[in-house]
Amino acid sequence: MVSTHPTEVQHAGTQYLPQKRNPNATISPNQELLPLTAKVNSNDCLEIGGCDVTTLVQQFGSPLYILDEDTLRAACRQYRDAFKQYYPGVSQVLYASKAWNCLAVCAIAASEGLGIDVVSGGELYTALAAGVSPEKIYLHGNNKSQPELVLAIESGVTIVVDNWYELKTLVELSTQHSALSTRIMLRLTPGIECHTHEYIRTGHLDSKFGFDPNDLDEVFTFVSKQPSLNCVGLHAHIGSQIFELQPHQDLGAVMVQWFRDTAKYGLSLTELNIGGGLGIRYTESDDPPSIEDWVKVICAAVQETCAAENLPLPKLLCEPGRSLIATSCITAYTIGATKVVPDIRTYVSVDGGMSDNPRPITYQSVYRAVVANKMSANVTETVTVAGKHCESGDILIKNAQLPKTEPGDILVVMATGAYNYSMASNYNRLPRPAAVVVANGEANLILQRETYQDLIRQDCLPERLKKSEV
Ligand code: LLP
Repeated sequence: MVSTHPTEVQHAGTQYLPQKRNPNATISPNQELLPLTAKVNSNDCLEIGGCDVTTLVQQFGSPLYILDEDTLRAACRQYRDAFKQYYPGVSQVLYASKAWNCLAVCAIAASEGLGIDVVSGGELYTALAAGVSPEKIYLHGNNKSQPELVLAIESGVTIVVDNWYELKTLVELSTQHSALSTRIMLRLTPGIECHTHEYIRTGHLDSKFGFDPNDLDEVFTFVSKQPSLNCVGLHAHIGSQIFELQPHQDLGAVMVQWFRDTAKYGLSLTELNIGGGLGIRYTESDDPPSIEDWVKVICAAVQETCAAENLPLPKLLCEPGRSLIATSCITAYTIGATKVVPDIRTYVSVDGGMSDNPRPITYQSVYRAVVANKMSANVTETVTVAGKHCESGDILIKNAQLPKTEPGDILVVMATGAYNYSMASNYNRLPRPAAVVVANGEANLILQRETYQDLIRQDCLPERLKKSEV
């Protein structure tokens, strides 16, 4: 077997169990790799939410997304409670559901008092179907279609307007589709740079999102003259997977100044939405701030700037996605073929890949894995975890440090709750995996595994193409 042996012997799985770094502090889910309920049971198997992961795979099939309800709820509460603690004004946390939009996740977030940020008619429809009240739904997007805008107007959700075209379209649609004025916010591009992957930066000036700050005079003047629009506030989002606190601190201050400027146009805005973006730990070397620290810094920046400008505190909103949900989910795969390329590397293949987790191939994202049925075994191999797609780049993890594996072992990739299911595809006609939510030893299906029938559900075979064999 050709593999680089790690110099230090490590217990492959147990090293990732959640740990209290500071005995007096609550664990911030975004600083962990495994869900907060992760344990190793007497069979040396990984347990999440009181359920043995290997048993879940037997029951629900493989691959399987396993969502830990306690971890998701803990993250929701930490955001909510931190705002209560550090912000004397009104606040509202929204879950950026693009991270994972489905009925169950929307329902859990809403039951913790969170609102939902949606970015399409489909996400909006799902949030409404999950029973989320329209007053707590905010619709984003840089090119919302007319049917999406009409659905939003008729359902009474707030529309975060991104550009001139949308603004003008909305004036017409609001008059046609509602007796009431449409509740809107304006998305601005703050020009704040942050260190993250180029594709997931959105707040710098060269961005497809939001109004240019140089156009604000014109935008505010226009909006102030539209009786069909009720502009309640401003929004900005600077990017995702951010570990620094400074950009958000700057954002809070800049936005309050814009807020102040709106008064001279006769606008009486009340809401300020500073977006999402807090990073999470995907590997041991990632060191993001805690949810509490992130909220604290933003609340302080907004309060201080309001005090300096002699302004009343606005209703403060934020919309985290990744840091709310990523750590609460793991993906369990079954190991199949292994290929040793002498002197180069060993490929260990699993029964999923870039279709259920497109992040490694899209953003070169790095993940960690454990073998769920060998949690205390020592690390003995360095292998490349490959997906099963017909594409050489379909590699989930390079240089994964694992115990010796064999076909049938259950490989768990950690922190897959954000931008995995929501970005999943049917590439190579792989059915999307099932997802279960686990809590107190109980597992419930939240997304059914797709079937081959599902795969051809949208296919049409025109009559003239039938029996076309030569
Ligand atoms: N609000 C807006 C307007 C956003 O565009 C985003 C993310 C969020 C909130 C939530 O950001 P978060 O808290 O999750 O960082 N697919 C990429 C991430 C794209 C993020 C897009 N916008 C990935 O897998 O890394």
